[in-house]
Amino acid sequence: MSLSATDFDYIRTLVMKRSAIVLEAGKEYLVESRLIPLAKREGFSGLEEMCAGMRAKPSPALVEKVVEAMTTNETSFFRDLMPFEAMKKQIVPELIAARGGSKCLSIWSAASSSGQEIYSLAMLLRENFPALRDWRISLLATDLSQEMVARTKQGLFSQLEVNRGLPAPLLIKYFTKEGTHWQIKQELRDLVEVRQMNLAESWKLMPQLDVVFLRNVLIYFSVETKREILGRVREILRPDGTLFLGAAETTLNIDENWTRVQIDKTSCYRPGAAELRKAA
Ligand SMILES: C[S@@+](CC[C@H](N)C(=O)[O-])C[C@H]1O[C@@H](n2cnc3c(N)ncnc32)[C@H](O)[C@@H]1O
Repeated sequence: MSLSATDFDYIRTLVMKRSAIVLEAGKEYLVESRLIPLAKREGFSGLEEMCAGMRAKPSPALVEKVVEAMTTNETSFFRDLMPFEAMKKQIVPELIAARGGSKCLSIWSAASSSGQEIYSLAMLLRENFPALRDWRISLLATDLSQEMVARTKQGLFSQLEVNRGLPAPLLIKYFTKEGTHWQIKQELRDLVEVRQMNLAESWKLMPQLDVVFLRNVLIYFSVETKREILGRVREILRPDGTLFLGAAETTLNIDENWTRVQIDKTSCYRPGAAELRKAA
């Protein structure tokens, strides 16, 4: 039986309230494909019964499962490659030159999914910048989903996952085989702090940052939420810090207080409108 308009409305209001993810009209198929299996696993006859049960007595655990099921966790090692090339070629060398005094570097993978993004960055630093060995490197990975946070902490990836974007020499060097899976070595896991965090709620205990990877998550939010989040990123990004967004995302027409910087085939953003940065 297909999803009723009332149940769709109930789910989309719930998901919006808890995650800021917008489920527009036409996304009924997505709700069905994600939530029918969940309803069955939770012992309901279907989605209709689960929605009725939740309306009558919303269990926080089930609400969390529903919201998590509606997140899209697609990711891969060195996804889209170019931002990582820009980090290697320009951003990290510039930061090494600028932070030689403090020898501190902080990078945040916001909406990090199962951790491929932050571990790609950890490997990039280890492989290319031996000078950073005695620096204080802070690599922070956060995601809304508890399941993704647990997966990132564990750093365990299937054969299929390591086949996507991870060069074989890095697999051999930084992973150990655990049965049918591959686990990223403790040495790299120790570099990464992993936390659950909802980007749409207040941000607690956020450090000042040099680089933010905020990729492939703004697409799920309304313009107002995007603007709010980009504003908060500006507050914690150092003036010479860098923001990377996903290939389909931009600050343009959302928050004009950024300067777009082209590096080879990719672009990133620096805090401050272009004319103000030039005048500074
Ligand atoms: C498509 S993945 C992007 C992963 C990675 N950044 C990349 O580009 O490969 C989107 C992630 O955003 C997370 N997410 C969705 N809404 C969120 C929110 N309100 N706060 C934090 N993370 C959120 C999801 O759980 C999911 O893991």
